[in-house]
Amino acid sequence: MEFLSEELAELEKNGLYRRLRMITSSQEAQVSIAGKKYLSFCSNNYLGLANHPQVVEAAVRATQEYGCGAGASRLISGTMQLHTELEDRLAQFEEKSSAIVFTTGYCANVGSITSLMNEEDTIILDKLNHASIVDAARLCRAKLQVYPHKDMNRLEEILKRSKQFRRRLIVTDGVFSMDGDMAPLPEIVDLARKYEAYTMVDEAHSTGVIGEKGRGVAEFYNVEDKVDIIMGTLSKALGSLGGFVVGDTSLVEFLKNKARSFIYTTALPPGVCMAAIAALDIVQGDVSYRKQYLDKVAYLKQNLEKLDFDLMGSETQIIPVLIKDAVKTMEISKFLYEKGVLIPGIRIPTVPKDTNRLRISLMASHTKDDIDHLLNLMTEIRKKFF
Ligand SMILES: Cc1ncc(COP(=O)(O)O)c(C=O)c1O
Repeated sequence: MEFLSEELAELEKNGLYRRLRMITSSQEAQVSIAGKKYLSFCSNNYLGLANHPQVVEAAVRATQEYGCGAGASRLISGTMQLHTELEDRLAQFEEKSSAIVFTTGYCANVGSITSLMNEEDTIILDKLNHASIVDAARLCRAKLQVYPHKDMNRLEEILKRSKQFRRRLIVTDGVFSMDGDMAPLPEIVDLARKYEAYTMVDEAHSTGVIGEKGRGVAEFYNVEDKVDIIMGTLSKALGSLGGFVVGDTSLVEFLKNKARSFIYTTALPPGVCMAAIAALDIVQGDVSYRKQYLDKVAYLKQNLEKLDFDLMGSETQIIPVLIKDAVKTMEISKFLYEKGVLIPGIRIPTVPKDTNRLRISLMASHTKDDIDHLLNLMTEIRKKFF
């Protein structure tokens, strides 16, 4: 398999070789790598709930009581009381009739899209949708149609000339994971209604963070009743692992019967279910928690903009800093790393060519000093690399 080393050398040459960094502490604002401390600005543990004492304690308690693993898939013998409790809690949080929990967000997207759609259908996607949505769309063999990022005219054109399909499903990220901007959901749901298409929103990065009650972008735009399928994750702001879909009971029952990534994989461990329930307690119980977090995000963004960095229209806690060149992006990331700050460069194929960038994300546990420290380094970067 000589091609392996040839292709790896090619990646190295183009500044695209990816290496894993091993963290030897928990995912706090400050992490340990090879015995050194680093300030991490790249976790999706937005609200810091992965380490929240209440969440950790709930996971430990459930693990002690119910063991480490669920032991089987949900339809065999893997459905434990905590899975049902978590699904009830998610339905209540999302104000929907029912919820179904998958082992990951990736599984939630793949399972729901592939069970609803087949070669008689078309799936219409924003160009910047997450890979799990793209993979699901490819796997189900529906005709894949892509509109340029947030381009509603193109979406309408596609809808106008795709009436021959049995079903049409528009799927969009709520918050785009590498850009931090939000899908124009009011326009999307209006177009869907006009052309009798279905809609699905992936709230992976918005669950727990965006919207008055933290339900995400559909809540933010007050269109929750007009979206057919809302998907979210437990792995980011909620701090543990898993994905979910909420909607009508018929949708959830359909997925329980048809979604292969629900049927043919082991259920979430009990400790993870309990951690997610405890995280929901926090998100639903104390609104100021989210508000303080978003104030920190606003402070960082305002100051990065003062330094004249292009934040690519970010509207949320995901803050891309456009660098463009892949090699320069990695040099800046390395410079930050040498200064004890962890912000990875994001390159193609994760983002389109010439939009290589740093992706900064804050955690609730970052202090103002942490943020000011980063801003001082970004001031140095502005002088040194541009
Ligand atoms: C928009 C989006 N959807 C889905 C996923 C998959 O979620 P999970 O990591 O829980 O599998 C991600 C994760 O990176 C994501 O960013």
